[in-house]
Amino acid sequence: MRPNIWVYCCISLALAGCLSDNYTIKKRQYASQGRLVYQKQCVNCHQDDGNGYARLYPPLHHALQSKPLDLVCLILEGRRGSVVIDGESYTLPMPAFGHLKDDELAKLLTYLYNTWGQEGPLVGVDEVEKQTRACRSK
Ligand code: HEC
Repeated sequence: MRPNIWVYCCISLALAGCLSDNYTIKKRQYASQGRLVYQKQCVNCHQDDGNGYARLYPPLHHALQSKPLDLVCLILEGRRGSVVIDGESYTLPMPAFGHLKDDELAKLLTYLYNTWGQEGPLVGVDEVEKQTRACRSK
């Protein structure tokens, strides 16, 4: 007897469901661990709501429109300080966070992109590792 195509269908659907569940669980784990990194390293300036502080520290929503990996070099190297966001100019420098490990960065980025009403991707350690290597060899 031929195996029923529907049986294959059901199995693949169940597997796909399972995989996406793992993805979601891992993303939630990363985001909650990333929150700790944010609270320790970033919250003083960019605040709990990511809106920054007065005219000193900028909000993050503008930067979060770019892809997560695009922020890796910025976080590792800091910035000299001259950026205009929503018509406000911010002139203080952003410190460098070169001491952050690839997994901390991946979790931090997952947190940033899945908070404040956003539903973004899970940022993997492997992709961050490639990017940090690229930043460091610049
Ligand atoms: C001592 C205060 C301070 C801390 C701590 C800090 N930042 Fe910043 N950050 C700044 C300032 C000031 C700027 C604006 C400098 C610039 O972009 O030229 C900035 C800019 C940024 C930008 C770019 C914003 C834009 O739209 O151009 C991002 C993204 C960012 N910070 C993320 C982080 C993350 C993530 C952390 C924690 C790892 C962090 N910052 C910690 C002060 C801080």
